[in-house]
Amino acid sequence: MDQTMIKEAVAHINGQLPAKPVLGLILGSGLGVLADEIEDLVTFAYKDIPHFPESTVAGHKGQLVAGELEGKQVIAMQGRFHYYEGYSMQQVTFPVRVMKELGAESIIVTNAAGGINRSFEPGNLMLITDHINHMGDNPLLGPNDESLGERFPDMSQVYDKTYLHHARDCAAKLGLTVQEGVYVGNPGPTYETPAEIKMLRTLGGDAVGMSTVPEVIVSGHAGLRVLGISCISNMAAGILDQPLTHQEVIETTEQVREDFLRFVKEIIRTLPN
Ligand code: 6GU
Repeated sequence: MDQTMIKEAVAHINGQLPAKPVLGLILGSGLGVLADEIEDLVTFAYKDIPHFPESTVAGHKGQLVAGELEGKQVIAMQGRFHYYEGYSMQQVTFPVRVMKELGAESIIVTNAAGGINRSFEPGNLMLITDHINHMGDNPLLGPNDESLGERFPDMSQVYDKTYLHHARDCAAKLGLTVQEGVYVGNPGPTYETPAEIKMLRTLGGDAVGMSTVPEVIVSGHAGLRVLGISCISNMAAGILDQPLTHQEVIETTEQVREDFLRFVKEIIRTLPN
């Protein structure tokens, strides 16, 4: 995943882009509907973009969608690459590098996550205030390309405070109750055991999922401003006396779809500089 590969992917996309995207969107399980709202759009199937892996999970489309959303030029990943699919961390985060090179200055990252915090309920939206990288890997391992970012990037302010403020204001304006908390990134593909969830709660986690952390690390490295939103699709293991299914994850995200769309669209419409 070097400069040449990024440039080749960018060249393919740039040739057909009407305008420079300022904002990148990464849309998680069941949340790809936001990309359907993009106007004057151009789509790029992942399989046609040089060096892009192909997305395999049900409930994920595999394309980039570029165009206008709420008056902003955006580029959205409709479906992302997951570490559990067997992609390397560099492959998982390659699209972030490409969005940055295309001109994006900020990124909104979304996911479906399990609730660890007992005060959460399925269907809640959660602003990600911080994360715990529990994936046992890091996309920045290996030689550092100084042209992409620094060797030891700060992660203490990776979730942009101004954006968090802005998102809170938008929630209030729309009358939405939105939770906040720490997202734990696990490798998956298994959901956790009850003992693991108890451990993650003790460690300070509020929600757990199998994505987002790699993309946010690379966004921080690349100097992109980040806003992260989790859709709490279910409670994590050991909280309710019921098994976890991917079906539940998809169903709940479909139920919060309207709130999610209203929320993110308002955030984008009024995004501060
Ligand atoms: Cl409970 N765990 C993980 N790792 N990912 C999830 C989830 C739980 N719920 C949705 N995605």
